[in-house]
Amino acid sequence: MSSVLVTRRLPSSVISKLEASATVDLYAGDAAIAPAELRARVADKDALVSLLTDAIDRSLIDAGPKLKVIANVAVGYNNIDVAYARSRGIVVTHTPNVLTESVADFTWAMILAITRRLSEGERVVRRGEWKGWALDFMLGMELRGKQLGLVGVGRIGAAVAARAPAFGMRVVYTEPRDVDLPNAENISLDRVLNTSDIVSLHVPLMPETRHLIDKKALARMKRSAYLINTARGPVVDEAALAWALQQHLLAGAALDVYENEPAVHPDLLALDNVLLVPHLASATTETRTAMADLAVDNVLAVLAGRPPLTPVPAE
Ligand code: GLV
Repeated sequence: MSSVLVTRRLPSSVISKLEASATVDLYAGDAAIAPAELRARVADKDALVSLLTDAIDRSLIDAGPKLKVIANVAVGYNNIDVAYARSRGIVVTHTPNVLTESVADFTWAMILAITRRLSEGERVVRRGEWKGWALDFMLGMELRGKQLGLVGVGRIGAAVAARAPAFGMRVVYTEPRDVDLPNAENISLDRVLNTSDIVSLHVPLMPETRHLIDKKALARMKRSAYLINTARGPVVDEAALAWALQQHLLAGAALDVYENEPAVHPDLLALDNVLLVPHLASATTETRTAMADLAVDNVLAVLAGRPPLTPVPAE
């Protein structure tokens, strides 16, 4: 039987399916497996089911000489040195499609929450500082008639755009486009930043997108605009974002992802016009189960000599 290392607890139905065809070594700790332990335990494995919190770098890949497949339980795969794995003949897979709708829903939850000041208002109530209803108390921004600017449009960006008509928003998006969006205008990043009321990030993390939203980009945004990040933390320069918010260069930001998770830049923690949530965009029972299930199906396919269902795309 092939042997598989799984670096975090997965739903029991998914583990049972894997156990029917392979010997499973499950790391059952509450936090991410330590790199040294991961290296030790991968040594005799044919397959690895990894999480986005595991750094699958050269040293880890070299520590697993028998590896045939690395199946990441995430759509993003910036935690894996894909080029090196491929050079060693290892198949790398991810979990697209199954999380698209839950991440798009969550993006809208964040858009609504930051523009209507939900977490800020909740903090006021919990602190006992609410003095009662007033006509001009904690006014937010209406979405109807405003512009949603998508930076990066793949599956998730397209699903976010599909929900925009329900809120009366028009959509613009940056080049290069992967998807043809109906009723949306394809414009430059500069114009997206300069003209949108909501800027929502949906690019993968790559060398070209690291700090794509830096001081200069933030300064291009409308002072009344909001930035939403459900993509990857390092796409935004967090220190620059804190500075821009302190300078009132934009109205607010909603972040699900951070540069050094689980750390959050201290200046952001001190600001009221920032919504901070702990990397939850795909976190529904249904979606997380489907992600784990797809990762395991990828492992089983490769171990059986079949092509994987969802390999990471070619460079
Ligand atoms: C989550 O961040 C993912 O990439 O699936």
